[in-house]
Amino acid sequence: MSLSVSRLGKTFFAEVENVDIRQPLAPAAIDGINDALAEHAILLFRAPGLTDEEQMAFTEQFGPLEAIQLRVGRQRNTSNEFVADMSNVDPDGAILPADSEKLAFQKGNEFWHTDSSFKPVPSGPSFLSARVVPSDGGNTEFADLREAWDALPAERQEMIEGLVAEHSLEYSRARYGYKDFNTDEKQIFPPVYQAMVRTHAVTGRKNLYLGSHAGSIVGMSEAESQALLKELIDYATQPQFVYSHSWTVGDLVMWDNRCTLHRARPYPKQTEKRILRRTTVAGARPTVVNGVPIDEWKIEQAA
Ligand code: OGA
Ligand code: MN
Repeated sequence: MSLSVSRLGKTFFAEVENVDIRQPLAPAAIDGINDALAEHAILLFRAPGLTDEEQMAFTEQFGPLEAIQLRVGRQRNTSNEFVADMSNVDPDGAILPADSEKLAFQKGNEFWHTDSSFKPVPSGPSFLSARVVPSDGGNTEFADLREAWDALPAERQEMIEGLVAEHSLEYSRARYGYKDFNTDEKQIFPPVYQAMVRTHAVTGRKNLYLGSHAGSIVGMSEAESQALLKELIDYATQPQFVYSHSWTVGDLVMWDNRCTLHRARPYPKQTEKRILRRTTVAGARPTVVNGVPIDEWKIEQAA
């Protein structure tokens, strides 16, 4: 049985069939999935009944798991530091009150972002599985940052290439007034530098790299930074670069955080449950060393 891959979006996002992701994968299947991810950036699998353990086992075949590092009650329902609980329920499965800490924190997912860009080494691929879905709303939207880069006018590309942005969790949460970080968290997550343009380690293709965690651009004033970041996020999330995924229970979506953005869409959080679980592969390296963006593709070629 060989993988079957069908593109669902215009430029990215494909469905992968003919593979049982609940079982250990043959090396050829892992290679096939890695190739499909390099080409399509986002992959949909159907895995009804997937458990946290199976999801972790599937994820780990693509690299070491990234730990969440956030305190219980934010994206965690359990002591498992590798499975993020993206849900509006408490550990007993009851819908959380509108003013709950967890809902306030997770509100941040509704802004265009790429996972863990607030960490010195940002995430590799993320894996999000749908356990319970609302009857209305709650899509996840994705944007193709490779296509957005290709479509930018050459003079804009020249101006942006080589720029470094400062990303922080505190910054992205402040966008909607969230301030409840404790001192420990401020120490764990100080602002970090990220390249604004990345060269994909597998394909060598360039893409924009930004999102809600990006707060400022090195060497630019606050006002200039804000204007450019907003311009580029608005540009990259135009309809021609976006795919909106409507969840069915059992879906598992794997996305490449290096070259895509995503955001959760609203749903009636006080009347409907939405339970998604996320696992993530740790990224390979920082995007900036000694203040300068690195060429991830060149480094990968030399390795
Ligand atoms: C995530 C995330 C979006 C969603 O899991 O990293 O941003 O739609 N989720 O829940
Ligand atoms: Mn996310």
